[in-house]
Amino acid sequence: MTEMADLNAALSAAAAKVEATLDEVLAIDGAPETLIYEAMRYTTLGGGKRLRPFLVLQSSRLFDVAETSALRAGAALELIHCYSLVHDDLPAMDDDDLRRGKPTVHKQFDEATAILAGDGLLTLAFEVLADDRTHTDADVRAKLVLGLAQASGVRGMVGGQMIDLQAESRTLNLEEITQLQRLKTGALIRFGCEAGAILGNASDQTRAALINYAQDLGLAFQIADDLLDVEGSVEETGKAVGKDADAGKETFVSLLGVDGARQRANELVDQAVSHLAGFDERADLLRLTARFVVDRNH
Ligand code: IPE
Ligand code: IPE
Ligand code: MG
Ligand code: MG
Ligand code: MG
Repeated sequence: MTEMADLNAALSAAAAKVEATLDEVLAIDGAPETLIYEAMRYTTLGGGKRLRPFLVLQSSRLFDVAETSALRAGAALELIHCYSLVHDDLPAMDDDDLRRGKPTVHKQFDEATAILAGDGLLTLAFEVLADDRTHTDADVRAKLVLGLAQASGVRGMVGGQMIDLQAESRTLNLEEITQLQRLKTGALIRFGCEAGAILGNASDQTRAALINYAQDLGLAFQIADDLLDVEGSVEETGKAVGKDADAGKETFVSLLGVDGARQRANELVDQAVSHLAGFDERADLLRLTARFVVDRNH
């Protein structure tokens, strides 16, 4: 089994390639108005763990998918993630001033530009997927578009964000919090793991194993995010902390306590890894990723 240092090296190497792909898809070409591109590039480039594209790359590796296809699908997913962060930080939502160690887009530019930059990233993601440079088979491209649309929309991230806002004024039980997080954070992470199976035309059984892994990974990831909000530092996370409790938001930590939430996250790591039993050593980095998402400090 590979070690955590190998995972960190693989994450950095992948992040550099993802950065180059994002830089390429965000190239200003015939822009009628450059400010919007500036805001889109400001928020997307030069930051973030790039975990979701990493999942695309690693799931693609299981099926010998061409690297360009995996990178472009990963970049599309990261564009959606970045858009979700820009809108999540808006005054009407979490009202945050700091993201990835920099002023949020509405602080650096203004609110209207932040809304439009988010819209621009969202639509660009689908433009990237639909482009034949992503995959030569139109059927595969259509499946990617469908999968990302479902993961991003009302039955995915957007739906989860809506319930999350309600969690500030409503008491949710553990089952409801789990459902909220499956949508808010889990859906995009799940698409990251499924994308390799789509690109590689994997069997239903193999795809199901990856989905099961992703669901546990996504929950563990969000529990860690909730724990970082309580225990993390602004310096390490690059964003404000203590926000959930201030907003009176129900989270895994508010329901289970710090120790209970950590224990649940650890159980989910083991469970996630168990779903990868049918894969060979090419899934080792995915196995380590499950550990990484809960042990991270940023
Ligand atoms: C933060 O996601 C938002 C959540 C879904 C909890 P990440 O922790 O992946 O943020 P970046 O991309 O590394 O900045
Ligand atoms: C945001 O969740 C998730 C999405 C953007 C979909 P949070 O509000 O907990 O994320 P952070 O803590 O601001 O990164
Ligand atoms: Mg939020
Ligand atoms: Mg937030
Ligand atoms: Mg959070």
